[in-house]
Amino acid sequence: PRRLQLYNWHKWAGVAILALSALRLLWRLLRRPPPPAPAPRWQLAAAHVTHALLYLLFFAVPLAGWAYSSAAG
Ligand code: HEM
Repeated sequence: PRRLQLYNWHKWAGVAILALSALRLLWRLLRRPPPPAPAPRWQLAAAHVTHALLYLLFFAVPLAGWAYSSAAG
């Protein structure tokens, strides 16, 4: 029973993270951040790609957990 309870908490935490990520993405799209500090172009590009990948993981990780637990039944 303890194990099932921990799985449940884990799932709710994951779903909460998914919901918060959606809110964050919406906020980020609606309110543009200030322009970046001056930096070499490759650093601006690297920062951009890193952030995009981070946002991808915000969604991919909890969705993968959800898909896994749904498939496992
Ligand atoms: C930020 C979100 C999440 C993170 C970082 C995360 C991370 C993890 C980790 C590290 C494990 C252990 C894997 C292992 O034993 O090697 C795990 C297992 C598991 N996760 Fe998540 N998870 C997330 C979201 C979710 C969600 C949303 C669900 C379901 C709705 C879920 C369901 C499960 C289940 C059922 C297991 C057990 C798999 C098994 O050992 O049979 N996870 N998760």
